[in-house]
Amino acid sequence: MSDDKTAEPKTLYPVPEAFAREALIDKARYDEMYARSISDPEGFWAEQAEALDWIRRWDRVKNTDFTGDVSIRWFEGGQINVAWNCLDRHEATRGAKTAIIWEPDDPKAPNRLITYAELAADVRRFANVLKAQGVKKGDRVTIYLPMIPEAAVAMLACARIGAVHSVVFAGFSPDSLAGRIEDCGSTVLITADEGLRGGRKVPLKANADKALDHAGGVGTVIVVRHTGGTVAMKDGRDVWWHEAVAGVSDDCPPEPMESEDPLFILYTSGSTGKPKGVLHTTAGYLLYASLTHKTVFDLKEDDVYWCTADVGWVTGHSYILYGPLANGATTLMFEGVPTWPDAGRHWEVVDKYGVTIYYTAPTAIRALMREGEAPVKRSSRKSLRLLGSVGEPINPEAWRWYYDVVGDGRCPITDTWWQTETGGLMIAPLPGATDLKPGSATLPLFGVKPLIVDNEGKPLDGACEGNLCIADSWPGQMRTVYGDHERFAQTYFSTFPGLYFTGDGCRRDEDGYYWITGRVDDVINVSGHRMGTAEIESALVAHAKVAEAAVVGYPHELKGQGIYAYVTLIAGEAPSEELRKELVAWVRNEIGPIATPDLIQWAPGLPKTRSGKIMRRILRKIAANEHDGLGDTSTLADPTVVDDLVGNRMNK
Ligand code: WT7
Repeated sequence: MSDDKTAEPKTLYPVPEAFAREALIDKARYDEMYARSISDPEGFWAEQAEALDWIRRWDRVKNTDFTGDVSIRWFEGGQINVAWNCLDRHEATRGAKTAIIWEPDDPKAPNRLITYAELAADVRRFANVLKAQGVKKGDRVTIYLPMIPEAAVAMLACARIGAVHSVVFAGFSPDSLAGRIEDCGSTVLITADEGLRGGRKVPLKANADKALDHAGGVGTVIVVRHTGGTVAMKDGRDVWWHEAVAGVSDDCPPEPMESEDPLFILYTSGSTGKPKGVLHTTAGYLLYASLTHKTVFDLKEDDVYWCTADVGWVTGHSYILYGPLANGATTLMFEGVPTWPDAGRHWEVVDKYGVTIYYTAPTAIRALMREGEAPVKRSSRKSLRLLGSVGEPINPEAWRWYYDVVGDGRCPITDTWWQTETGGLMIAPLPGATDLKPGSATLPLFGVKPLIVDNEGKPLDGACEGNLCIADSWPGQMRTVYGDHERFAQTYFSTFPGLYFTGDGCRRDEDGYYWITGRVDDVINVSGHRMGTAEIESALVAHAKVAEAAVVGYPHELKGQGIYAYVTLIAGEAPSEELRKELVAWVRNEIGPIATPDLIQWAPGLPKTRSGKIMRRILRKIAANEHDGLGDTSTLADPTVVDDLVGNRMNK
């Protein structure tokens, strides 16, 4: 017997035989389906589309062009309604099945189990409320809610009447909310009195009021009474949700939506400028979210499925709501956080409901791993059969802990690579088909054609490393940046003409497995949340005492990447601990807590080229404490600034 401590860690985890026998898709089937999806996309997707309920069949499956102005259209001529597909069509066979299990922040507070029939009626009723407020097909509705069932009801009610929802994560500041309301011109805002996270209250209504002080256009605010905290209600504008729905009919015919009518806008950060409104449309998105949900999570009728994301992110849209409900699954919605009241909370929830599929982020796994095995081992977790990971590359140590400790060595892990822009999972193992390698998202899903190119755009073959592109369209792809199609074409299709560029670096190994290496642009990934460095920089320079700022990511044990800010003060201002705290609070206030800088270094000067461009490569190295390999600094306007930055670096 080899001693475990000296043995090389296992790098290949074959599909467990028992799992493969029961799985929806085994290896042979994956190979055959994938090959077909690439050789005959129209035939493949037309066949898959039969799984949905159409009002009118499509005339043309795929009409997409990644060149020129870029145009992406799927299932043209078809008509369909997303809410109908997620709810009403299940009523006959699954009316009494639980659609949503809601587990509150406080483990002692009452939970809620909502059946498909109840959820369908709630959605139809609230859809009528929206109509009564004047909301019509194509109007935008902003949703700023905590993780409560009303968030699902509000989103689906929009889908039912053809309104376009824009969900803003409840952790964003009033300013961020205002910017997103204005950008898409919402007329209605849906919020709650307060949110609850880890026992702490989040003043959502007060934030919404501040946002509306300087964002025009919103005539109605619908407020969910959640905590019962006191909030100000503005006459003629604000209405309580429970009062608005009282006595309203639950009869509301679904709006026939064209396949390419917008379903939702979701703002996400890029490498430049303000957040972009990623626009997803109706039929292709729903088909892609539901097919990937079913196959990657090997969904069976009796599964209890739990995705721990927030509905404020795309993972919540596609894999708490639309994918699972379209598939008639039981989806768990959790209001709280993994570490409160203690680090055993998630496993208690797993046991409480017999969760079979658990889908979370590496940052959560690392946070729980730090607390040791005891809080995990207090629970049985016998119900679990499949684990998932999303949001950032999962380091092999965390992968193995997840596999061995959480899954007791029994549950495959599906590491899912995708983006807000892709609408659904793109590269991920099918648990009954794909042997696993810790740290690799493995192989492409149906219809996905990854291409790795070098910096000149030359496609690379075989084992290689470079920039990850996708060579052809898939139904879940975003269609445009809301209100700015040129920015869409420019951001995603101009770096490598004719290809969708993901912004990620990637390696392909000798078995054809993909290993995402992280962003190659100025986007950083903090705890699985995407932040544009430019956004944080503009927040910093908006402070009266800041002359200039440069923000980079650096390796962070729990968060994956932390936020490292170099700040140059205006002449006459002196650095102090107090000012440092003030700037941290300032950024939290401008953007939201997720943008909180971890480290701020006072920089008398920033390394710039003679043409005035900040050399971020150097700043990243210093932040990563890799200043020995700074490379060529001779092109800098003033090479001495580097010595100062290295000498005073924060990450020692
Ligand atoms: C970026 C997209 C849609 C998922 C939630 C985040 C990184 C996401 C993985 C993964 C390695 C990953 C990429 C991507 N990412 N999942 N499994 N392995 N990296 O969505 O905010 O749009 O961020 O997250 O860098 O580009 P997002």
